[in-house]
Amino acid sequence: DEVLSQFSSANVIDAGGRAVCPSFVDPHTHIVFGGNRLAEFEQKIKGADYLEILAAGGGIISTVRQTREADLAELIDESRGRLDKMLACGTTWCEVKTGYGLDTETEIKMLEAIAALDRDHSVELVPTFLGAHAVPPEFREHTPDYVDLICSEMLPAVWNWYRNSHFPSAGKLIFCDVFAEKNAFDTGQSERILDTARQLGFRLKAHVDEFTNIGASRMAIGLNAASIDHLDQISEGEIALLAASETIGVITPTVNFNFGSSTFANARDLIDAGCAIALSTDYNPGSAPCPSQPMAMAIACRYQRMLPAECLNATTINAASAIGVVGVTGSIEVGKRADLLILNATDHREIMYEFGGGPVGTVISAGEQVWPPAADRP
Ligand code: NIG
Ligand code: FE
Repeated sequence: DEVLSQFSSANVIDAGGRAVCPSFVDPHTHIVFGGNRLAEFEQKIKGADYLEILAAGGGIISTVRQTREADLAELIDESRGRLDKMLACGTTWCEVKTGYGLDTETEIKMLEAIAALDRDHSVELVPTFLGAHAVPPEFREHTPDYVDLICSEMLPAVWNWYRNSHFPSAGKLIFCDVFAEKNAFDTGQSERILDTARQLGFRLKAHVDEFTNIGASRMAIGLNAASIDHLDQISEGEIALLAASETIGVITPTVNFNFGSSTFANARDLIDAGCAIALSTDYNPGSAPCPSQPMAMAIACRYQRMLPAECLNATTINAASAIGVVGVTGSIEVGKRADLLILNATDHREIMYEFGGGPVGTVISAGEQVWPPAADRP
């Protein structure tokens, strides 16, 4: 009543007493890819291990083959369907990584798909170059040569592509990410790639400590990365470094859930030590085929002992910080966009308490209702 007596608007939405919160930001996804990994899903149920599948030329590499084969229109079409599902789960901003091309041409094709989707889908996208996602088949046993190619050819080409894209004028950064892991890139190689990217103007991210601690968290925090992601094997010393830094820790419990694992990143220790934690779906065809931030939040409450309010913080303002958009979204504040959810609930805790359903009733992006689609509205 107080607001209505002071302000008027041509567009008044009655939330009917239900809870309103900022819409979700998903700070780590791989939603642009060709094909699927349904056969691998079954192999894993029968006991196959993710890194073994990757070492045998499957996993990420099988998606690389399928993404190289797909043309730009196919990539855009398939990825649009994934964004529709994310929007229905309440996500209005998401970061999207390349990394299924692993050659300059296909990496740029993925970036073109990200740019096209950003222009014509109501979910806002932020691009990340992940040329160092895996070693491509043509460089098998020759990882240092591939690292040379990334530094000398791919990074300058991608930076040039970004400068000529619509992203800078839309106020969106581009990030460079690496998969620092056994059978992928070691800490020295990862550091060289990130440092080259930083000098060109990229902000930095790194996949660290997913399976093996190889010292990559320390390295990436040292380079002032915007985020370090996964954190399953992060050490106590590195937790202290993260807490003292500006870097956001992004956790991905959908991955552990999808692997049927009983261990998860220790979010409780990370938060209690003072780290700023964001949650993501890591939506990708292998380790986490999941479009839903409410699902990630439901898992984090149960297996990582995060409180509902901490999960909401981790999927809104902290997630926005991790992708450089906290000035425009991630909280309900004067001067930011009206990126909002009307929940099917009167209490924010119900987003996580009831799981597997649909906690989100209405999605509003920049003041406009974008979901459910106009045709489905009462
Ligand atoms: O974040 N770890 C590396 N990258 C993804 C998985 C991508 C895939 O399996 O296709 C991740 O888990
Ligand atoms: Fe990832």
